[in-house]
Amino acid sequence: MSNFHIKHLEEYYQVYRKSVTNPEAFWEEIAEEHFLWRKRWNNVLKWDFSKPEVKWFEGAKLNITENCIDRHLLTRGEKTAILFEPNDPNEKAQHITYNELYKRVNKFANVLKQQGVKKGDRVCIYLPMIPELAISVLACARIGAIHSVVFAGFSATALATRINDSDCRIVITSDGSYRGKKTIDLKSIVDDALTETPNVKNVLVVKRIKSDIHMKTGRDKWLAPLLDEASDICEPEIMDAEDPLFILYTSGSTGKPKGMVHTTAGYMVYTAFSFKNAFQYTENDVYWCTADIGWITGHSYIVYGPLANGATTLMFEGAPTYPDWGRFWEIIQKHKVNQFYTAPTAIRALAKENLDFVEKYDLSSLKVLGTVGEPINEEAWHWYNDNIGKKKCPIIDTWWQTETGGIMISPIPYATPTKPTYATLPFPGIQPALMDENGNEIKENQVNGKLCIKFPWPSMARTIWGNHQRYYDTYFSAFKNNYFTGDGAFRDEVGYYRITGRVDDVIIVSGHNLGTAPIEDAINEHPAVAESAIVGFPHDIKGNALYGYVILKEIGESRNHDNLRKEINQIITEHIGPIAKLDKIQFTKGLPKTRSGKIMRRILRKIAVGEMDNLGDISTLLNPEVVEEIILKRL
Ligand code: WTA
Repeated sequence: MSNFHIKHLEEYYQVYRKSVTNPEAFWEEIAEEHFLWRKRWNNVLKWDFSKPEVKWFEGAKLNITENCIDRHLLTRGEKTAILFEPNDPNEKAQHITYNELYKRVNKFANVLKQQGVKKGDRVCIYLPMIPELAISVLACARIGAIHSVVFAGFSATALATRINDSDCRIVITSDGSYRGKKTIDLKSIVDDALTETPNVKNVLVVKRIKSDIHMKTGRDKWLAPLLDEASDICEPEIMDAEDPLFILYTSGSTGKPKGMVHTTAGYMVYTAFSFKNAFQYTENDVYWCTADIGWITGHSYIVYGPLANGATTLMFEGAPTYPDWGRFWEIIQKHKVNQFYTAPTAIRALAKENLDFVEKYDLSSLKVLGTVGEPINEEAWHWYNDNIGKKKCPIIDTWWQTETGGIMISPIPYATPTKPTYATLPFPGIQPALMDENGNEIKENQVNGKLCIKFPWPSMARTIWGNHQRYYDTYFSAFKNNYFTGDGAFRDEVGYYRITGRVDDVIIVSGHNLGTAPIEDAINEHPAVAESAIVGFPHDIKGNALYGYVILKEIGESRNHDNLRKEINQIITEHIGPIAKLDKIQFTKGLPKTRSGKIMRRILRKIAVGEMDNLGDISTLLNPEVVEEIILKRL
């Protein structure tokens, strides 16, 4: 029996039992057998959730890029590591072998060094889905710099906030990006952001769209000539197991985004282990995850997990709609993709289109289908199963979070029987618990509860950059000695988990986590707005869409309301990005509040979804009269 690669249900149960009865021995065996260490650890695990402090493989020394690249060179040097499929189907795909990846990462790493980047420095990466994105991530890891990738759909303000929060001194970007028919001028977004970031002295620019852009002398440099001159050998920086590997921001229900900090050894071990098992990857497979590397899914399951396994990982620059709705299926046929991992929102959008777009292509290479980011509804699950997997490919509904670093609850394909809308069983090493309203663990099955994890796992985030107290408050204060996920879940009679959704003020729109508070803060910047509240409501394709209740100041009342709606969405686009735009904006005279002045979102949520008969007791509100007005003018 191998702990690393589980192939049968029986084996899953055996491995799982071992992983919870003796977690240290379990992870130690995996770490020993499957990775390259410069020095062995002194302790497998030290932890204390009351602080919280978690250390895996303390004392060990390693470099994650040696594990993702160097050690494959002997056996897989000419194998494709990154298969790049451009936005334009007429542009040739690029097969970047492990040998070539080694050289390109080392060159990039040398350029970073030459620009003064040192171990522990933070590097902001704001790039489209081009090979340089993966390469720059790995180049940072090569020299021990901490990468902070910001999704290139974020606005200048959002980018500036993230750059300042982790005090990045250097930004890597491109002259622009392609997305479908559009080109996006990324560099000018960066230029705008940098007016707010006094410490950034250095910008490296990748040429992608060959546009004529402004380069600020002394600050901005084209990357290509620097790479040309750099050596393709860069000795890896030898890192401690618990040295930070990267920061990745995620929205919170309140306040500014949280810079989740992931460290080196545990993250490597867990993403490699979970990749292998979740996708049942075997040597010559082509694996494709459609996420952007700007999100955790891309970090763990486009870059680190696959490369640590010596896999071929496909990176797609474009959009599922370009040149038409058949693009995903065309790519699967063209590259004979074996494992395909995408978001339910994409499946719902694709399922709305004519089946001809699917049937034109040969999808027989597929072996495993995955979903991530939000609950998958039954209809989308069946469409995916019937039309893409032809009922032959197990669907793995993988539940996890930016904070967890890797997949936590998911079927193991060909081992765990699947059940639509259920993420099913915890991965080895993962110990979920459901909590009741009083904070006690519910042991029975057939129950709903708040989902916690009661034991550490190797890839959990260790802190929030610069704010450990917030890390404690957000995740470890609600349930003593437990990590609280912020999600609700149902456990069925056989112990399968079904994630029911967020239980806090985070709304998942098209698979993107959006905190309500930052959107409200943005709206409130509009000179005509006095106050606002955002809630989610179900949407066919996006899963959830946003409904805003907005109180106008007097100057707003006399203005054209449709224009105001446009301006409000414009402000949101500028502060956060187009993903946070509101589908519905209702102007109102008041918002229902508790006597202590807190907005009662529960009531607003019910009105937005049309459950007006079921508002509960509103008599204790400070201002029950506003509820009627809100219902009358509901959109
Ligand atoms: C939600 C994405 C239901 C959940 C990897 C979680 C899911 C949040 C699933 C994290 C799933 C993710 N079923 N809900 N399979 N996967 N979620 O940080 O609410 O972008 O807390 O990480 O997405 O989103 P994040």
